Amino acid sequence: MLRRMIGNDVLLQLELGEGLPPVCADVGQLTQVFMNLAVNARDAMPLGGTLGIETSRLTLPPDDAKRLEVQAGDAVRIVVWDTGAGMDAVTMHRIFEPFFTTKEVGKGSGLGLATVYGIIKQSGGAIVVESQPGEGARFAITIPAADAKVDWPQPPAAVGSSTGAESILLIEDDHDVRNVTARALRASGFTVIECPSGEDAIARALDPTLHVDVLVSDVALPGMSGPAAVQRILQMRPSLPVLFVSGYPRNELDRHGLTGSDVHFLEKPVSLSELTDAVRRLADHGSH
Ligand SMILES: Nc1ncnc2c1ncn2[C@@H]1O[C@H](COP(=O)(O)OP(=O)(O)O)[C@@H](O)[C@H]1O
Ligand SMILES: [Mg+2]
Repeated sequence: MLRRMIGNDVLLQLELGEGLPPVCADVGQLTQVFMNLAVNARDAMPLGGTLGIETSRLTLPPDDAKRLEVQAGDAVRIVVWDTGAGMDAVTMHRIFEPFFTTKEVGKGSGLGLATVYGIIKQSGGAIVVESQPGEGARFAITIPAADAKVDWPQPPAAVGSSTGAESILLIEDDHDVRNVTARALRASGFTVIECPSGEDAIARALDPTLHVDVLVSDVALPGMSGPAAVQRILQMRPSLPVLFVSGYPRNELDRHGLTGSDVHFLEKPVSLSELTDAVRRLADHGSH
């Protein structure tokens, strides 16, 4: 999957350790970590280069563990490095902030590394970056080994009180945001129908065989606005619960007369877990 993502001009160099201890983390989320780091590396190497991934086992001494805020002892180290443009100290200090991006409008969402950071923290781990302009970048992730004696947490209830296969129609024009959002929803057990525009969503909703449980929409879209598209879809499917996710104030919606019964609103910045929780509530509610 990574090779396809990075394209032909970037060489993928893997150095994977053997006999690594297991870690306790969500597979879907870790996949997202690798994807986000690889996409960033690719973006930093428009003329090609090398993306390296290394995994190894290590024993964290108490000092290092304290500094990293990670449990001491056995751990797994994952290093993702590239030979790209690198970054200066000012940029480096801000890269984990949600919505921080140095990419032009429409290219970057600034959500990749914020997501990575959240996932690694949630897994009890740490992520440290090293870089210099022109010298590439190196992201070192440390995740403590899972303690075999500890009760393994049950995997998140992807199959919820309802079927867990509820369908979400997602309208979001930004490719990266849509991707990240769809992945998070799928990791929570939803089926996601991705629509890059309101027009596209309306076309999908016209198909009577398409089952939809919750509509999730951005507000500002090029072309038809989110509220305008939602209004049309609600004409066809009046009982569909709607969740708007937007950086715009709520009264944008009032203007469209959309504050109806089952229209809900989340104001950006929204964490992926807040979003999936909100969708889960609407999906459960709607199916009862
Ligand atoms: N491998 C890398 N090399 C150089 N700069 C990077 C790298 N990874 C991330 N960055 C910097 O961090 C910023 C934030 O990254 P990210 O959160 O993934 O958002 P986005 O990729 O949408 O800009 C990027 O805009 C870029 O400036
Ligand atoms: Mg990114």
